[in-house]
Amino acid sequence: EKGGFEHFMLKEIHEQPKALTDTLRARIKNEGKKAINLEEIGFDASWAEANRVVITACGTAWHAGVIGKYAFEHFARIPVDVDIASEYRYRNPIYNPKDIFIIISQSGETADTLAAMRMAKKSGARIIAITNVVGSTLAREADLVMYTWAGPEIAVASTKAFTTQLMCLYLIAIQFGVLRGTLNDAELGAAVEALENIPAEAEKILSDKENIQRFAYLQTNKTKVFYMGRLFDYAVSLESALKLKEISYTHSEAFAAGELKHGPIALVDESTLLVAICTQDNLFDKMDSNIKEVKARGASTLVITWDDVSYFDKTADEVFRIPRTMASLSPMLAVIPAQLYAYYVSILKGLDPDKPRNLAKSVTVE
Ligand code: F6R
Repeated sequence: EKGGFEHFMLKEIHEQPKALTDTLRARIKNEGKKAINLEEIGFDASWAEANRVVITACGTAWHAGVIGKYAFEHFARIPVDVDIASEYRYRNPIYNPKDIFIIISQSGETADTLAAMRMAKKSGARIIAITNVVGSTLAREADLVMYTWAGPEIAVASTKAFTTQLMCLYLIAIQFGVLRGTLNDAELGAAVEALENIPAEAEKILSDKENIQRFAYLQTNKTKVFYMGRLFDYAVSLESALKLKEISYTHSEAFAAGELKHGPIALVDESTLLVAICTQDNLFDKMDSNIKEVKARGASTLVITWDDVSYFDKTADEVFRIPRTMASLSPMLAVIPAQLYAYYVSILKGLDPDKPRNLAKSVTVE
């Protein structure tokens, strides 16, 4: 059942290239020029009349939503609000008849997420569901469903559901851009081609996993791990820190790198490991000085960056490289080393990554 892997989590991490391909394949058309086809799910031009997109979810799915916000801004130039479902449902949100909601849930059964979805629906807004479970409550109640064809996710820590949620969000964001006229044919073609290359690039990262396994040693004597990045890398930091705390019980947190000076730096000492995610080339110099500030206080440092970047070689203790793609698509790749890192630290500590204490796969009660 684990397909030769020691744990479901490792198996599911390895299933990402196939899951990403399956999620993408049916939604691409190639009639002379490459384009996105979301007619299958009923996403027509009327959806693009929205004035605002509101994304709501919990946990890892919320992290996908944060990336979705950056993606929608980038590709479709549309305002986006992202909310944690348990916050959203107790707020007094302002509705606009032209809002559309994107509700993300692997299981499609998370209580807070469903409650937020029902509130939005009651307001008259239209709902897009991104879910992995066919026929789930979320899938049944939404106006439009986009499935993440990831297959069953057994491990408590979400991996392939996350990257396929991202793939769905990117497809919608890019198609939104096409319908709203913010992307021209050449930009669309380049984006689709980049999406099509993601599965093979993910595979390449997996084939380099011994390198990540080697970095688990960085955890020795470290009681806290910080993840930081800017823009898309900040969102990936959130997800990376969650993975590590869930399955290795390491105190980990994530922050936007620019926030370092506004608080987190007070915690930095020799017992700190800093993982800096650096895929936004125009911000490398900012990241580099942030990393130096942390290093100067005795922390160990690991950088995740592109395979053609040597910028951080002198600054960081270790550098892990991922295949280059468009900077705006980096999360689907940059998160994979962080998933593997969390897995190997869990193993190093003698824990069972598939069954983390105190956590349930599906949170159907508040
Ligand atoms: C993290 C994790 C949780 C879920 C969250 C939402 O690895 O699995 O944070 O992402 O409970 O679950 P779904 O997506 O089923 O609504």
